[in-house]
Amino acid sequence: LLPLHLETLQKLKIGQKLNEGKTKQIFELVDQPGLVLVQSKDQITAGNAVRKDQMEGKAAIANKTTSCVFKLLQESGIKTAFVKQHSDTAFIATHCEMIPIEWVCRRVATGSFLKRNPGVKEGYRFTPLKMEMFFKDDANNDPQWSEEQLLESKFCLAGLTISQCEVDIMNRSTVAIFEILEKAWATQNCTLVDMKIEFGVNVKTQEIVLADVIDNDSWRLWPAGDRSQQKDKQVYRDLKEVTPEAMQMVKRNFEWVSERVKLLLEPQASGRVVVLMGSTSDMAHCEKIRKACTSYGIMCILRVTSAHKGPDETLRIKAEYEGDGVPTVFVAVAGRSNGLGPVMSGNTAYPVINCPPLTPDWGAQDVWSSLRMPSGLGCSTVLSPDAAAQFAAQIFGLTDHLVWCKLRASMLNTWVSLKLADKKLQACSL
Ligand SMILES: Nc1ncnc2c1ncn2[C@@H]1O[C@H](COP(=O)(O)OP(=O)(O)OP(=O)(O)O)[C@@H](O)[C@H]1O
Ligand SMILES: *[C@@H]1O[C@H](CO)[C@@H](O)[C@H](O)[C@H]1NC(C)=O
Ligand SMILES: *[C@@H]1O[C@H](CO)[C@@H](O)[C@H](O)[C@H]1NC(C)=O
Ligand SMILES: *[C@@H]1O[C@H](CO)[C@@H](O)[C@H](O)[C@H]1NC(C)=O
Ligand SMILES: *[C@@H]1O[C@H](CO)[C@@H](O)[C@H](O)[C@H]1NC(C)=O
Ligand SMILES: [Mg+2]
Repeated sequence: LLPLHLETLQKLKIGQKLNEGKTKQIFELVDQPGLVLVQSKDQITAGNAVRKDQMEGKAAIANKTTSCVFKLLQESGIKTAFVKQHSDTAFIATHCEMIPIEWVCRRVATGSFLKRNPGVKEGYRFTPLKMEMFFKDDANNDPQWSEEQLLESKFCLAGLTISQCEVDIMNRSTVAIFEILEKAWATQNCTLVDMKIEFGVNVKTQEIVLADVIDNDSWRLWPAGDRSQQKDKQVYRDLKEVTPEAMQMVKRNFEWVSERVKLLLEPQASGRVVVLMGSTSDMAHCEKIRKACTSYGIMCILRVTSAHKGPDETLRIKAEYEGDGVPTVFVAVAGRSNGLGPVMSGNTAYPVINCPPLTPDWGAQDVWSSLRMPSGLGCSTVLSPDAAAQFAAQIFGLTDHLVWCKLRASMLNTWVSLKLADKKLQACSL
């Protein structure tokens, strides 16, 4: 794919229309097999298109919302169909066969849940999140389905049969996607109340990916957790009468979201990892830590200093990083006797992680210099470079949602890999 600016100059060769719904058209891309153009329409619908109003500019707003949300999810590591934005009202996506299920995930009870579960009051908080699924069937008003109903319908899309494994993957992915978006909206003091999403099967890879769009119609957002300030399409559904003024209010709300949604991509805090190594012979080990930090989007600086041989320098370097107010996690890499981590830990309020490069000959003895501490020291010890970076990321993830989102997506992806590995093994042994 060419960079966006070149591509818009080059103009896409749009092929035949593959699909058209109430809000979108899907076009084949002649020169890019496996990709499609998703074009939004300037139309807002509610109650399955009983109510239909044109809202000029809605397509552009929807486009922006979807693009930002998918970018956030993509950068976090969630597999999605989104490739990139193409224009004000269209984006490029991988061609999927859509699984005809709407996955709904709720943190706070409201809307149709209250009708289906009388006795539950609005505002009830679900922990863990409440999952529901609905079969996409306009003629029957999208009935709620059980997992068993989905399994028994044995959908086969792009050659993939939707069985227990696929259902579990979609269920788990929905939870992870919700938590990522919830964390991101929290930075804007906004409660993600609930969300609905759809998955597709990538026609080329047969992977299950988040597809279709996530826009105002896909979620409820309550600023400061206050329903009366709702900024989502519910405002439109609740209108008693569609007047030009009312539509202006709906549009203003939509614009509020599309402005805010950009901020979800911005880091809230920026920290750094400083790796201190006792000697440059530990460089390869430290480079692995740096590489892993970079994958979380965390800056990582390498320094050489020995607490045994140059303690004055060790403390001077420490002061350098304490002096500029940037939140810092120190990682101490020292072979044989690790004096570095403990000395740092006894002299700074920042977290210190020991990551000693152990050797097969003396490793079992050497590790004790990182584990057995005088009182008053709180350094932790991990052995693999990846683990040191991951632990630092978990510390920064407490305040930086972008880092937290990467950790969360990685947890999902690991879970899915295990699930698929088991499925493959079971298939082989049949
Ligand atoms: N990446 C994709 N590849 C192929 N089809 C897609 C992709 N993304 C979305 N679609 C499909 O494009 C069609 C048009 O979307 P639209 O949202 O307008 O439909 P709709 O009228 O809302 O119907 P639905 O109730 O299925 O959402 C839908 O069937 C949707 O599933
Ligand atoms: C959507 O439009 C913007 C405007 O260019 C464009 O930059 C963005 O790229 C398009 N998509 C959306 C969704 O805004
Ligand atoms: C999703 O998974 C949870 C936990 O395993 C389960 O309780 C729930 O019934 C599933 N939801 C759906 C809609 O399948
Ligand atoms: C969120 O609320 C807190 C506390 O009320 C406030 O200090 C902060 O500025 C708000 N942030 C945003 C982005 O509105
Ligand atoms: C979503 O709704 C908000 C508030 O109603 C609005 O400002 C925003 O533009 C909408 N976004 C989309 C994509 O429709
Ligand atoms: Mg749709």
